Amino acid sequence: MFLTSLFRKATHLKRCYSDCAKPGAHKVAVIGAAGGIGQPLSLLLKLNPSIVELRLHDLKDVPGVVADLSHIETATKVVAGGSDLGATLKDVDMIVLAAGLPRKPGMKREDLFKTNAQIVYDVTKSMTKAAPDAYLIIITNPLNSMIPLACEVLKEANKLNARKVFGCSTLDSVRAATFVGEAICKDPKTVDVPIIGGHSGNTIIPLISRSNPPACLEGDDLQKMIKKIQEAGTEVVKAKAGKGSCTLAMAYAASRLIFSILRAADGEKEIVESAYVKSDVMPEVKYLASPLLLGKCGIEKNFGLGKVDECEKKMFCEAMEILKKDIEMGEKFAKAKI
Ligand code: LMR
Repeated sequence: MFLTSLFRKATHLKRCYSDCAKPGAHKVAVIGAAGGIGQPLSLLLKLNPSIVELRLHDLKDVPGVVADLSHIETATKVVAGGSDLGATLKDVDMIVLAAGLPRKPGMKREDLFKTNAQIVYDVTKSMTKAAPDAYLIIITNPLNSMIPLACEVLKEANKLNARKVFGCSTLDSVRAATFVGEAICKDPKTVDVPIIGGHSGNTIIPLISRSNPPACLEGDDLQKMIKKIQEAGTEVVKAKAGKGSCTLAMAYAASRLIFSILRAADGEKEIVESAYVKSDVMPEVKYLASPLLLGKCGIEKNFGLGKVDECEKKMFCEAMEILKKDIEMGEKFAKAKI
């Protein structure tokens, strides 16, 4: 009995560790690499010495981006993945999905579902055969629905490792640190504001009560700060006046999440990032953005909500109703295809 359980444990550990990338030799595929987020993101990834190969995929313009990036004097090899998605993804350690249409003024993120869902479905389906053990980082909106969609596809193929599937809501953490830092006159790099919920409007819940250093915002100032963080993406869409949504800060946020995941995979300890993931910390919703401890094989620990004040609790309860519907929309799409 004891030996059987020991053997099971050893097999599990072996499987877990053989799933992990070799330290400092990561192969990353970027889907949507010639787009508004894909290009600056690929540039940032090219600068990371732990990525040995960057495989770029898009419907057009990839050769130009590859030629351009390959002039940068870093060892990371940049290659065109070709038009075949399966060949692009073959044996990579990480897939970053930045493809899809951006919002136009007046649109909500949910309005992108119809167009972008098929892209997420196709990439995830391809992943189940070409790189089932890879990390999957999704940037494509609406994120609240896309992660459930992707997880359903992976689950159906018996390839779901939820510890390795991340929705890049990290931009909300970046924005919260920037705006709160400005308000309390601190270097934003030194500010941490936990984010929970999802990645759209009222589902983005910055826990200002747990800001570190503390942000003594109250009343109107607090409400304005919460709204500013929640509506930041929409402000960029308005400012770009029909030419897309946030690309540069999103590329930065995605690179921050990706580098954290790779550093943790390479053995660095105590790395925490917020992301939107499959989650069992709250029985009401199956997917949630929350702070995560990263480890050698992805998510090591989900910190969940932690301590929230009354106002944050109320925001969370309201957000859950929206989140549930968003999650259902993604799952329903995947199930109808399967
Ligand atoms: C953002 O938060 O900037 C992105 O989700 C893009 C968008 O449409 O707002």
